[in-house]
Amino acid sequence: MKLEREWADDASEFCAKSIGKALERNRVPENTVSAKRIVVAIDGPAAAGKSTLARRLAQRLGFTYINTGAMYRAVALWALRRQTDLSDLHRLEQLAKEARIEFGAEDDQILLNGEDVSAAIRSEEVSTAASKVSSIPAVRRALVAAQRRIAELSSVVMEGRDIGTVVFPDAQVKIYLDADPRERARRRTLELAGRGIAADLDGVATDIRQRDERDRTRAASPLRQAPDADLIDTTGLRLDEVEEKVLQLVRSRTANGKEVAR
Ligand code: DC
Repeated sequence: MKLEREWADDASEFCAKSIGKALERNRVPENTVSAKRIVVAIDGPAAAGKSTLARRLAQRLGFTYINTGAMYRAVALWALRRQTDLSDLHRLEQLAKEARIEFGAEDDQILLNGEDVSAAIRSEEVSTAASKVSSIPAVRRALVAAQRRIAELSSVVMEGRDIGTVVFPDAQVKIYLDADPRERARRRTLELAGRGIAADLDGVATDIRQRDERDRTRAASPLRQAPDADLIDTTGLRLDEVEEKVLQLVRSRTANGKEVAR
């Protein structure tokens, strides 16, 4: 139970460090054009511990933490609010291109067109819509372009489903995080309880199974482990053990977690 609690805040699944602050910290001086940013890509199914791990790694490394799932959720929320038909691919593409998505100054804060939607994107309705919206290739193209732009400015720990396979196939470090489905459901249930939402374990397990199935079987950028990604199964592992393991990988592939010249 203690272990599950450690990982449980994963399902808040989103952190937003102040990108402004992080960019400031990671900014490469203009004259060092050869300086190279580091990308740590973390992919895996829902509630595997991606957000908890990615957030802590970003803190330790001083990188910007980007939760790409939150970006798909923000577009889905906008579509729902505008009562957009989720089969209207053209309109959804437009929304994804026009959405102004920013990460706020507080942890777990995301702004959509200037409005703080951090809590709103966590509803069940948005989760389901995000899963549908994220299967549309044109929506993915728009958000992948935005994700690449963010990493041009700063070293990042970026988590999602396709970071190591599509967004940054040449990321210096790629982790595929997984855990036993039952443990993932338990972590998610605990996390929901922590937010005052009573959820039944079987219902959560079913929801996670369905979302994973959709993410794995869609045609556009399905969830899969990149051939060169390190697989870490977090079942029964402590968060700090996993964190150290990944930090070692980062250090071994970069100049001790620092930007390296090309
Ligand atoms: O990680 P999450 O549950 O907040 O993601 C929301 C949805 O977006 C989920 O159905 C998976 C999808 N997603 C995706 O397709 N690609 C990403 N890089 C991140 C999330």
